[in-house]
Amino acid sequence: MPRVYMDANATTPLLPEVLEAMRPYWMERFGNPSSIHLNGQQAHTAVDQARQTMSEFFNCHEAEVVFNSGGTEGDNTALFGLLRPGDHFITTSIEHSAVLQPARLLAERGVETTFIEPQPSGLIDSSEILRAIRPNTRLISVMLANNETGVLQPIEQIAKIAADAGVFFHIDAVQGAGKVKFDVRRFGCHLLSISAHKMHGPKGVGALFVRRGTPVESLLIGGSHERRHRAGTLNVPGIVGMAKAAELAMHSLEDGTMDRVARLRDRLQAGVLLSFATGVNGAWDGDRPVPRVANTTNIWFDQLEGEALVIALDLKGIAVSGGSACHSGATEPSHVLMAMGLDKTRARASLRFSLLKTVTEADVDYVLQVVPEAVEHLRELSPVVAGTLG
Ligand SMILES: Cc1ncc(COP(=O)(O)O)c(C=O)c1O
Repeated sequence: MPRVYMDANATTPLLPEVLEAMRPYWMERFGNPSSIHLNGQQAHTAVDQARQTMSEFFNCHEAEVVFNSGGTEGDNTALFGLLRPGDHFITTSIEHSAVLQPARLLAERGVETTFIEPQPSGLIDSSEILRAIRPNTRLISVMLANNETGVLQPIEQIAKIAADAGVFFHIDAVQGAGKVKFDVRRFGCHLLSISAHKMHGPKGVGALFVRRGTPVESLLIGGSHERRHRAGTLNVPGIVGMAKAAELAMHSLEDGTMDRVARLRDRLQAGVLLSFATGVNGAWDGDRPVPRVANTTNIWFDQLEGEALVIALDLKGIAVSGGSACHSGATEPSHVLMAMGLDKTRARASLRFSLLKTVTEADVDYVLQVVPEAVEHLRELSPVVAGTLG
């Protein structure tokens, strides 16, 4: 049985070139970049080169790249590093928990917080952000691409609103990395977080772009690493791997790879939609298509339990994610899909297909062979159909 992984928004495997680039930095070149001897200098040079690559990836100065442990840390740094009691903060109700949970905690600590709701399309209306601005608004944080639907938010419009109001702007760009060409100058943000493992780099490493002069306080206090933006010995193999992944991602955006991924995603989506009582979450705004990253489609299936379908597909060798998340032991429907106006049953019966950039035609063929059968089979058994589940 083939194994087809369509959960790239959860994580991605290393590309072989990434593993090769990292390999020397575990053993032969194990030095601490802060040491002045040869071992340290070898590591230091590798980090410098990686910083140079990341500055090209973001289109920023090298001094504006802060290496860290990933998206959660970048998001936490932006919020905790800038917001103080009495400040006002604007974000959206469809952010990742790496933004939502710090926002809730900060609200308990006296930061006034506004959560903007999305439209049914999954898009945030930038005029609602404009309306939410108050004299004490200090920070706006909006994601570039939603992890569940792939919908791309109008960040350049939001940046303009932030700039006109003199407000800092952070972008959680974790799900955009490698899927959208980055340019922090064009985006107009002060802070932007990414994570290597979403773009075929290693887990537990990421980068935060910090525009020069942004007064963000460090979360971690200790040594003077990263120009005092982030204390802690640098994860040299991870940083080298992330830079290699970023370099490959820049190529993939130019050489047609991501266009191929978009075509395969569209073929997959069209094929799945041939099944009765299905639809896409976050594809249309009236009769206009919604901008989405190339690799993601989120599809609802009426009259079945999404989790049962995730398990049935896994047993057939296909990895996808459902529209529910496990919170303290209970399965809750996705906050993103609920915010877009889906009812609980439909949110629970939604699946996210997120394709790797190495996806093949054969992968899509296999999924299109298995999904309709699995859907039909589950509907025959489903308590939703039998009317015993609300
Ligand atoms: C949109 C978004 N932000 C932040 C994160 C957290 O990133 P990390 O896994 O690197 O902590 C994720 C991970 O799923 C994400 O999808």
